[in-house]
Amino acid sequence: MPHGFVSLKTDSQEINRMNICKTISEFRQYRHSAAGKVIFVPTMGALHEGHGSLVRMARRLAGPDGIVAASIFVNPTQFGPHEDFHKYPRPFEQDLANLTAWGADVVFSPSPEEMYGPGNAISIDPGELGTVLDGAIRPGHFRGVCTVVAKLLGIVEPAAMILGQKDFQQQLILKHMVRDLNIPVEIITAPTLREPDGLAMSSRNRYLSPDQRSRAASIYQALSWATDQYKSGMRDAAALVAGMSEHLRQAGLEVQYALPCHAETLEVYPKAVGAPCVFLIAAKLGTTRLIDNVVNS
Ligand code: PAF
Repeated sequence: MPHGFVSLKTDSQEINRMNICKTISEFRQYRHSAAGKVIFVPTMGALHEGHGSLVRMARRLAGPDGIVAASIFVNPTQFGPHEDFHKYPRPFEQDLANLTAWGADVVFSPSPEEMYGPGNAISIDPGELGTVLDGAIRPGHFRGVCTVVAKLLGIVEPAAMILGQKDFQQQLILKHMVRDLNIPVEIITAPTLREPDGLAMSSRNRYLSPDQRSRAASIYQALSWATDQYKSGMRDAAALVAGMSEHLRQAGLEVQYALPCHAETLEVYPKAVGAPCVFLIAAKLGTTRLIDNVVNS
């Protein structure tokens, strides 16, 4: 088998080959020898069906002649010193099998040394949007995200990049980044995929014990409750915050925020909730931090 390709066996059949590039120059070689537009799905691996929906969407957008590129890179610069960088799951072989089954053509999977070589010193300031909500709780997080995504876009050179709505603040900041830095890529936000009880699919769900897992469904219950209230005309921000927080606390979650925000500026509606509105939640179950949101336009 040629170097850089993977050929995987499912239960009974061999499925098509996918190119694996571990270095920037390998990826560029592949990219410049392949014709057709590239649709890109950046990931940190530990892939689940939520990623599957992004890769399948990329496959549809790329068509038979385009290229679906994914990256797997657990980016150290977006983790705080006490966060889960070292324990972040890295089931690489399973990820490759999934990407192949979902229709990806190529995966870029560099080492930290490849991405951040000696003397690497420039990073991207995410601006005001990077200082609120998760930006306030995880200082430096969005600087790390913007920097790695700008680097990935410079390497992959896609026509479009697909991001999940679950990371609402991230997709908004990255849309601002490509606009402000004139990076020629379209960003498409794909809907959040949920488990049957409403829990948003996330690589971090695998940290939850069975008991925590059942209590985690309260996040979507709180968001659904707020959405129902909003749709039936409730506009009292304080009451919505109190109601969402109560749902979470009753299930034993530690609430970091449960807020109605402007869906384009992320400003918290202080009194009367207007439109467009996104209800945003971040909550902890033990040491696992989960986020989710619902948009009401
Ligand atoms: O959402 C993620 O998985 C990461 O933040 C991203 C966009 C791949 C950057 O490391």
